[in-house]
Amino acid sequence: MRHCDSELHVTGRSEYTDDVAPPEGLLHGAVFGSPIAHGKIRNLDTSAANAIEGVRGVFVYDDIPGQKFIGAVIQDEPLFAYDEVMYHEHPIVLIVADTAELARKAAKLCKVEIDPLPITVCPREAYKAGDVLQEVRIFEKGDVESVWDQCDYVLEGKIDLAGQDHTYLETNRARAVPKEDGQVKVYSSTQSPSAGQKTIAAVLGIPMHKVEVDVKRLGGGFGGKEDQATHWACMASLAAVKLQRPVQIVLNRVEDMQMTGKRHPYKQDFKIGLSKEGEILAFDVAHYQNSGAYMDLSAPVLERTVLHATNAYAIPHVKILAAACRTHLPPNTAYRGFGGPQGMFALEAAIYRAATEMGVSPDWIQKKNLIQDGYKFHYGQVLKDCRMQRTWEEAEDAFEFSSVNDRVEAYNQTHRGTKKGFAIMPVCFGISFTKTFLNQGSSLVHIYTDGSVSVSTGGIEMGQGVSSNMIAIVARSFGISPDRVRCNSTNTSRIANISPSAASATSDLNGNATLIACQEILSGLCDVAARELGGKPEDISIENGIVHLSDNLTDLTWEQLVLKSYFSRVQLMAHGFYTPPGLHYDFTKSDNNPFHYYTYGTCLIEVTVDCLRGNYTIDSAKIVHDLGRGIIRSVDLGQVEGGLAQGIGWVTLEDLAYSDDGRLLSFALSTYKAPDADFMPDDLVVKFLENADNPGGPLGSKAVGEPPFMYGIGAYFAIQHAIDAFRPQIPDEIVSPMTPERVLLSLYDVKSVKPAEPSVAL
Ligand code: MTE
Ligand code: HPA
Ligand code: MOS
Repeated sequence: MRHCDSELHVTGRSEYTDDVAPPEGLLHGAVFGSPIAHGKIRNLDTSAANAIEGVRGVFVYDDIPGQKFIGAVIQDEPLFAYDEVMYHEHPIVLIVADTAELARKAAKLCKVEIDPLPITVCPREAYKAGDVLQEVRIFEKGDVESVWDQCDYVLEGKIDLAGQDHTYLETNRARAVPKEDGQVKVYSSTQSPSAGQKTIAAVLGIPMHKVEVDVKRLGGGFGGKEDQATHWACMASLAAVKLQRPVQIVLNRVEDMQMTGKRHPYKQDFKIGLSKEGEILAFDVAHYQNSGAYMDLSAPVLERTVLHATNAYAIPHVKILAAACRTHLPPNTAYRGFGGPQGMFALEAAIYRAATEMGVSPDWIQKKNLIQDGYKFHYGQVLKDCRMQRTWEEAEDAFEFSSVNDRVEAYNQTHRGTKKGFAIMPVCFGISFTKTFLNQGSSLVHIYTDGSVSVSTGGIEMGQGVSSNMIAIVARSFGISPDRVRCNSTNTSRIANISPSAASATSDLNGNATLIACQEILSGLCDVAARELGGKPEDISIENGIVHLSDNLTDLTWEQLVLKSYFSRVQLMAHGFYTPPGLHYDFTKSDNNPFHYYTYGTCLIEVTVDCLRGNYTIDSAKIVHDLGRGIIRSVDLGQVEGGLAQGIGWVTLEDLAYSDDGRLLSFALSTYKAPDADFMPDDLVVKFLENADNPGGPLGSKAVGEPPFMYGIGAYFAIQHAIDAFRPQIPDEIVSPMTPERVLLSLYDVKSVKPAEPSVAL
């Protein structure tokens, strides 16, 4: 099987939110945002905008009939800024007009007078000023302070880790259509249809059953539409209900980049202590999260940073400070890995620094400290069926770790203008929402009388292949061809109280629910078949669309069985509900079990740096990944390769540049570079663990969406390795992304006009 949308996608026929034929009278919205990043609104004048011919409505904070503040964790964010603007382009007014062009033209005519207030874009500064979104937390295991003296090596460092734009192909958008009796139907490009439904209902002051949210598919979400799709859906719904006309809001790329939150940038301090044998004895890290102006998902993102602060390593003494710092940027939000990558980066940076000091290769330290069964994390979960060492060892054998160092060193000794570097990145990522209640999935399976099947779940198709996985699960459960199964849009009228499609858990939760629904229908079908064929229900099976009795082929086809069941008044539809067992997590306690299981993998990345220009190429990425028993190989491979690309992009090319007054300077794809296919290594090898069924996942599978992202972190340290081969250095601050410009600056001592030593040899 392949991705069920692949043919539609490559022929351009797949429909996204605003591709659906426009309803009659469709109006278009545009948003007027704040011209400065922080200040008190003194006066707002929308009269010029209102006077334009073709403008049908102008909406501000006071026009909201119901709840005026939104947010998934706490409702601290006004749908429109009204007294204080908190970031550049903070939405203040929604203009609705006959065309999008007119609406944008009118938005430009809005005038706002703002008394400027101080602007903070740095989380360290916000922290010092005490401007935090929640109590600063410290998590401890053992006692780091007691062991520094016993360490042979103690290293400290500072990190400046940038955020990342989601760069989904489809920008944020929503279309709201008013229906009879005060109802509204909303087509929203969202990962969280139920959050959208709930918030729209609250904003409008109507019950949730009057709001229907429908999502066919997203042109990518990557976390950016977990919480932040809601705003546009609420605005479109507000205007649609007030004007009794369908209203659509489609952000253009610049608006999307300026107005929506991103991966959280972090500032970090670390201190690591090791024995001379390479054991990590203590790790002390402070995470200053750049949360942006409002809470959004910052608290759970920070929580995952804390949970993954020790990644794949067993460390006896750990101390983690976690501060969610308010800055004057759009509220930062979920992004593939959900805080995990930031947690893992800090530890890799610490290991790299220690290896430099000790004169060893980082992988020597990494391997010595890998977690194994029985290890108890700092939050209390005890590892079982740990495959960390297994993926490392398989990668070590397959990709010949033992010879990489020699090969790279030999190259570097014989080349002056270019240098090679490598890094290994082990990943251990916990699967489950850390908000335990979100771990629930629902599925509705319908068999129609012609034997065709449809499945509806809470899963949102955003390119990751959840629809294909659901089809595969139904087809395998019923023993029929995937061609007989169709996956419906995700709709709040079919499935209630849908958890976000996030945390890599969508196929897990909804797939297990689908299995349960299929089982329920199947038991009725087997009774009918057994009666028909004169056997026992438990001896019935269906393969390739034919009913088997005690593994022997019969004449009864799937279609005949379905029709006979229908005439026997046996149910041909069922709802399945699933929640993983044994989860509990309360950050105030130390005895937790937040994760259903972990996904593991090990990646080797090799790079070449051009030491004259600062450019680099990613030569190879070689991965051993634990997928359990994969559902659809091509879909899983797409997730691993795509995640890797995004991870490499985060630490190399993707540079969110802000001015001191809080404006995003790289606000278009001309200045913000994301990796393309050409940037990716030609030599890309992905091996999946074999015989690795996961009892917790549907059909033995494991969640795959986010973990591969973190392999990309290796690219940063591989480039640093190559730089160090040219000009050994210990930077004052470890800064990511490692753009070619930054590489160039670090290759030479730019503070003195005279080129540094190695360049003389050029
Ligand atoms: N892959 C594609 N093509 N598009 C996406 O938007 N989102 C990622 C990942 N892979 C994404 C993707 C993120 S952030 C998550 S959490 C998971 O997919 C969500 O889907 P899953 O739970 O089905 O893995
Ligand atoms: N991952 C992704 N999204 C989430 C989570 C999580 O752990 N918790 C709440 N939303
Ligand atoms: Mo993914 S960041 O959990 O949407």
